[in-house]
Amino acid sequence: MKVSQDRLAEKQFAQGLGIETPAFVPVGSRSDLAAGLKSLGRPAVLKTRRFGYDGRGQWLIRTDADADAAWASLNHVPAILEAFVPFDRELSIIAVRSRQGLMRCYSLIENRHEGGILRQSIAPAPNLAATLTSQAEAAAQAILSELSYVGVLAIEFFDVGGRLLFNEMAPRVHNSGHWSIEGAVTSQFENHLRAILGWELGEAANRGVSAMLNLIGTTPPVEQLLRVPGAHVHLYGKAPRPGRKLGHVTVIAESNDELQQRLGTLREIIASQDLHQAAHQAEQTSTPS
Ligand SMILES: Nc1ncnc2c1ncn2[C@@H]1O[C@H](COP(=O)(O)OP(=O)(O)OP(=O)(O)O)[C@@H](O)[C@H]1O
Ligand SMILES: [Mg+2]
Repeated sequence: MKVSQDRLAEKQFAQGLGIETPAFVPVGSRSDLAAGLKSLGRPAVLKTRRFGYDGRGQWLIRTDADADAAWASLNHVPAILEAFVPFDRELSIIAVRSRQGLMRCYSLIENRHEGGILRQSIAPAPNLAATLTSQAEAAAQAILSELSYVGVLAIEFFDVGGRLLFNEMAPRVHNSGHWSIEGAVTSQFENHLRAILGWELGEAANRGVSAMLNLIGTTPPVEQLLRVPGAHVHLYGKAPRPGRKLGHVTVIAESNDELQQRLGTLREIIASQDLHQAAHQAEQTSTPS
């Protein structure tokens, strides 16, 4: 917990285990920021060391004006400056370690973020070279055993031309593993419980190919989503609010083609709901009450 709550400690920890990360410098003052931008180049990403999620507490810096604005928003909170990584895609791995020290890994997952929020995950990640899986599993092995970790842990990576850079880790079940409820022999949730209870871990193998879409800000009509073959909807019972994760839909298929087709239909349903919602809001704001 202590390591993963602090982005600086976390990246230093990864580097200490020989896991490659984006270049970074600690930032405690305006002059640290200026020096960091010089050494790392631009663009760069300034992040608070603690309490960030869904892209909150992060600023992309391209210009001096960006740097001034980011520094002002930071409000003297300890930060880290990272080189901006021009990644090909984002990948994550979910790993679980039992009390007896046995480890299992789920397949690598391909993630797409929009505005810093996870939008979509696909498992197994398409076009997976064996070297990607071995890099991710080696990193997971090193981290879990170094921490004598028990339970599920997720690691997020940037894939840069087949090289994995460690972005961050989460000592818990992870949004990018929600597909495993229907898409794996044993879900990440069940394996976490098995691990902490000291029970035997379940198999982490995939059942077909899976995709998960987060339902963010609005909930589309559930019965429309469920008409898509292989779709399963999970709602969290939260009040709608822009940018809030209200639920997710997972879809399972036998092949990648079939998955893409089903995913396309789900995305259309979600997009039309978002449009509907935006039109409704525009109408409300333009009508004097
Ligand atoms: N150094 C970087 N270079 C390029 N993109 C980045 C960088 N750091 C973060 N991002 C983008 O912003 C997203 C969110 O960043 P990060 O995972 O560090 O923060 P977070 O707010 O903790 O997210 P989470 O919701 O996973 O907790 C990343 O998934 C990635 O898309
Ligand atoms: Mg993240």
